[in-house]
Amino acid sequence: MDNSTLLLLLAFLVSYLRTVIFFRGNQSRKSSKLPPGPRPFPIIGNILKIGKKPHQSLSELSKTYGSIMTIKLGTITTIVISSPEMAKEVLHKHDSTFSGRTVLHILQTLDHHKVSVAFLDPSVHWKTLRRACVTKVCSSSQLDSTKNFRLKKLQDMLEYLDECCRKGDDQVLDIGEVVFTTILNSISSILFSIDLAGFASDSTREFRDAIRGVMEEAGKPNIADFFPALQVLDPQGARSRMDVYAAKLINIIDDIVGERMEGRAAKMEPKVWNDALDSFVLQMEEDKPQMGRLDTVHLFGDLLVAGVDTTSTIEWAMAELSKNPEKLEKAKKELQHYVIGKDIILEESNVSTLPFLRAVVKETLRLHPPAPLLVPHKALEDVKICGFTVPKNAQILVNIWAMGRDSAIWCNPNQFMPERFLESEIDFKGHDFELIPFGAGRRICPGLPLAFRSVHLMLASLIHQYNWKLADDLQPHEIDMEEKFGLTLKRVQPLKAIPSKVY
Ligand code: HEM
Repeated sequence: MDNSTLLLLLAFLVSYLRTVIFFRGNQSRKSSKLPPGPRPFPIIGNILKIGKKPHQSLSELSKTYGSIMTIKLGTITTIVISSPEMAKEVLHKHDSTFSGRTVLHILQTLDHHKVSVAFLDPSVHWKTLRRACVTKVCSSSQLDSTKNFRLKKLQDMLEYLDECCRKGDDQVLDIGEVVFTTILNSISSILFSIDLAGFASDSTREFRDAIRGVMEEAGKPNIADFFPALQVLDPQGARSRMDVYAAKLINIIDDIVGERMEGRAAKMEPKVWNDALDSFVLQMEEDKPQMGRLDTVHLFGDLLVAGVDTTSTIEWAMAELSKNPEKLEKAKKELQHYVIGKDIILEESNVSTLPFLRAVVKETLRLHPPAPLLVPHKALEDVKICGFTVPKNAQILVNIWAMGRDSAIWCNPNQFMPERFLESEIDFKGHDFELIPFGAGRRICPGLPLAFRSVHLMLASLIHQYNWKLADDLQPHEIDMEEKFGLTLKRVQPLKAIPSKVY
């Protein structure tokens, strides 16, 4: 028997013993009654029931076991929440107790989990990082002052699309790729005034590939998360791949931050950039800085990866509008009516005058939330909910995908009907628990205000200025809406179309 087989057996034995001890412990705590759920197999628990689309399989299971349900993923006790009422219990009433994070094995790469705003448990340091993220990047005054950075990136996208239109009929574009490039550059220019991706060139491949790699690895199920004892072995090699991607990403950001710091220290930096990095560096020069270079670099990494969520929303919205041409026509008419001038670049302030466009975005986020199970939360102590006990350290998944498609909440839930939001006050800012694509409570997405502006502006520009002919003569009803579960909920088939200028 070779060493690695021996280690594997040992790890399974440890996992098994931990499972047995856990169950014994549970039985002895007479008062603790877990929420109902499917009977788990020894050791593997309910892993086999989850499949490749956990949001969908968990949605099916919750129809049998209810809107608060227990499943065992290997050794990990997981509580799945599937109704707005239960989501309110978890994210509002018991917000502080449920605001911990379970950390995937691969996210321990470069000790990221020790400095990450997205994966630290609440602490003084986490609060500092969140405050920095809100005040230095995503507050409305900060967003107003970086408006021109985003407009410039939007203009770059429109110039690229115009160029494609001029080239003629064979310019098939992957809409998701075009949007991804624009969003990435938009966030990187807000952060540090640099474009990290190009539409057509290979010069920026390194960063692009690294960020894609991080997203792919973080989205794949990893057996080492279900059996922590296996983490030393990294049986799927996920951790070593992640180490490579994360190192590339972090090194590129660290070089950018270092260059700015050194330039300032050597007084070679006469320019005021007015980007976020300016204020982070200023803060680092204080006597007792609350955040150092490492914190800043990892925070920028988090913001770039999390910010790319915006891409999938725009791609899904374009897919839904292409599949439903009468809704697309309505959105175009609204834009023609309210936006003066045909070639004009929309301003973020135009969004408030576009109720149908806003309804399209809400409807897209209802049907295709980029994070269908939010980012997993963790119970920081035992909590009683509706007569059940959620044990300390349990992982909490809030299945907002299931809530978005629940016929008890929405009429014709599987249909794309933006009109349902025209007469409704429901919003996605974390108060209406039937629609929480950004989460709610203290872990709510801090990038919401930025995402709000970017999604509306880019979507409006794509439909106001261009007509899109589906590639391969595909008909609207033939568009494949199959979902792929990962770090974000992506389309299995990328949306490909040929743009032509409207005016
Ligand atoms: C349509 C776009 C977006 C959606 C739907 C979205 C959704 C989410 C969700 C569901 C969470 C987890 C909430 C929870 O744990 O309960 C989250 C967290 C987060 N998002 Fe977003 N997000 C978007 C865009 C952005 C942008 C543009 C940024 C910043 C540039 C951003 C930064 C973050 C960060 C830093 C966290 C972690 C917060 C924490 O754990 O305390 N997101 N987002």
